[in-house]
Amino acid sequence: MISIKQINDKDIDLCYELDSSTISLWSKKQWAEELKKEGIKVFGLLIANLVIGICVFHVVLDEAQINFFVVNQKYRKKGFGSYLMNHLIKQCEKLNIKKLFLEVSHTNITADKFYSRFDFYTVGIRKNYYKDGSNALLKEKKLRTK
Ligand SMILES: CC(C)(COP(=O)(O)OP(=O)(O)OC[C@H]1O[C@@H](n2cnc3c(N)ncnc32)[C@H](O)[C@@H]1OP(=O)(O)O)[C@@H](O)C(=O)NCCC(=O)NCCS
Repeated sequence: MISIKQINDKDIDLCYELDSSTISLWSKKQWAEELKKEGIKVFGLLIANLVIGICVFHVVLDEAQINFFVVNQKYRKKGFGSYLMNHLIKQCEKLNIKKLFLEVSHTNITADKFYSRFDFYTVGIRKNYYKDGSNALLKEKKLRTK
């Protein structure tokens, strides 16, 4: 059974495990710092008790930035990423957030295509932003608010 739960700073190990087995974005120390920040919210996507996806987003007034969005490799292309994204969008709309932002490498075609399906549009480019020299595409999605 699929469920989504809000993750707190006691669940750093879960976050770090999924990160280190996928995109290796942050160290455990960086995760600890991230989860302590004001305005940070984390959703975990679970099948039974297993966390197979995590989304970290940062709310600042009426805008939010997705800082981490990953589905476990074994569970990709089955609709789980979309399930998590739809949940995130609904929660943001409930919080009356007007715009959702994220950054993605221009070489990450899979993620770029995924975000395009949710009407994220490129609004800026940061040249040579990532360690491998690739550019970051800054993407924005406008949300429906009350
Ligand atoms: C981007 C990411 C989160 C997508 O997660 P996902 O669980 O594969 O997402 P979905 O399954 O909902 O959708 C992915 C594709 O599978 C397709 N799909 C979904 N269910 C399917 C099914 N049952 N059979 C075949 N294809 C299916 C979707 O149509 C979608 O195709 P498209 O994006 O080409 O239109 C995942 O690839 C990932 O974790 N990537 C690594 C981390 C990353 O790059 N994060 C973004 C950094 S900013």
